[in-house]
Amino acid sequence: MDKLAGIRVDQLSDEDLGEALTYPVDAFISREYAAAENELLWSKVWLMAARLEDIPEAGHFITFNVGDESIIIIRTSADSLRAYYNVCPHRGRQLINTPDDVNCVTGKKRSFVCGFHGWTFNREGKNTYILDKEDWKGALSDERTCLSEVKVDTWGGWIYVNMDPDCEPLRDFLEPAASILDYFEFEKMRYKWRQWCIYPCNWKTAIEAFMEPYHVAGTHPQLLKYGQFYAYSKPYGLHGVSGFDERDPSMKMSQSSSVTRAGLGDPRVSTYELARENYETVNYAGSTETLVNAAKRLVDELPEGTPASEVIQHWMATAKADDAARNVIWPEIPADVMAEAGLAWSMFPNQTILQGVTFALCYRVRPYGDDPNKCIFESYALERFPEGAEPKTEWVYAEPTAEKWGLVLAQDFGNMEWVQKGMKSRGFRGPQPNPHQEQKVTNFHRHLARFMGIGAPRKLDRTDQ
Ligand code: FES
Ligand SMILES: [Fe+2]
Repeated sequence: MDKLAGIRVDQLSDEDLGEALTYPVDAFISREYAAAENELLWSKVWLMAARLEDIPEAGHFITFNVGDESIIIIRTSADSLRAYYNVCPHRGRQLINTPDDVNCVTGKKRSFVCGFHGWTFNREGKNTYILDKEDWKGALSDERTCLSEVKVDTWGGWIYVNMDPDCEPLRDFLEPAASILDYFEFEKMRYKWRQWCIYPCNWKTAIEAFMEPYHVAGTHPQLLKYGQFYAYSKPYGLHGVSGFDERDPSMKMSQSSSVTRAGLGDPRVSTYELARENYETVNYAGSTETLVNAAKRLVDELPEGTPASEVIQHWMATAKADDAARNVIWPEIPADVMAEAGLAWSMFPNQTILQGVTFALCYRVRPYGDDPNKCIFESYALERFPEGAEPKTEWVYAEPTAEKWGLVLAQDFGNMEWVQKGMKSRGFRGPQPNPHQEQKVTNFHRHLARFMGIGAPRKLDRTDQ
């Protein structure tokens, strides 16, 4: 650890991310680095732990594990949460068993009774029962016998925890990304489906596979017949966004940066094809049934030759009306915010959100114990539903196949394992992300290096071998 902490980290500015950069592979493959993440990263940042809908009523709890740590989050009343380390202060038994093959444990409790000797704790974490307490002759203070608390807060319907008692407020941690994404009102969306698997690559190898559309041509070539996937990528504090871009700047329009955009050729046709493809091959996420159905009608509702911007406007207006008719009310998102919100966000360190006005396709990746070559990969779709029509969902373990995850995700899975193996090669000179299209990746490493004390990206120059 001393060795890790002793290396100087160079500070790069946002502008520097536009340069050709490289960084070492230790973050992906080193056991020592993975162990250090527990001390220097996971216990120092706000981590997305669950959604409020996971624990809807007072007394509902959910566990969140990261590395060797386990945390219990409990709803103590209609509008208050508490979070505790999942450990009994007597002799250290987990209060809630969290087997490795279970995504998380949920339930409802008035109090927590330890399975070993029966010490009991109320929802506020206070000890309410110790067998033969007199045996300690008064040495057990309330502070020694209560549960250890963890900071907890919420944003966008997500519950975040932070193990650092001196951490900055969640809002500060999420800015400036949060102020843009607030417009999407994620707190009004609900799970549509959620799947997870244990996958053979580092958690960073996995999350980085979803940071940029630069890989679309190489990995998802079937999508190229529907649209261009040239993308910008830029930092927002710790976080980053990518959005569709035009190689030719004269082609830009405000609606074109997000997943709701026109494709190639007749936009009345390609808009539908792109939306349908995004919907059907990304496991029924990346769009909604309303959007796809409204796009299907474009060719009947608009004359041939309608410009792309008008096609998109008409599409959005009719889909909005269709949704309103079934009591799904769209948030008002100004055009400049929509353009700035782009396609997909990486929220440091391990949360990804690909957003639409009424949906979001999200990922989270966690380390699998202390193994740098494995991760817990999770993906879920959120959508706005008419009140009371939300589907009942739970975490489903799904092998990483096209049958379980759809073609597009299976294609991504088809890279991650082999990136993990490839990066171990003596012949690999280190990653060199695209300076325009993959800045989210370098921004991630720039901030990761600040926490870890090593691994800062450095500029490549012509003398680099
Ligand atoms: S370890 Fe929990 S009561 Fe003994
Ligand atoms: Fe992909």
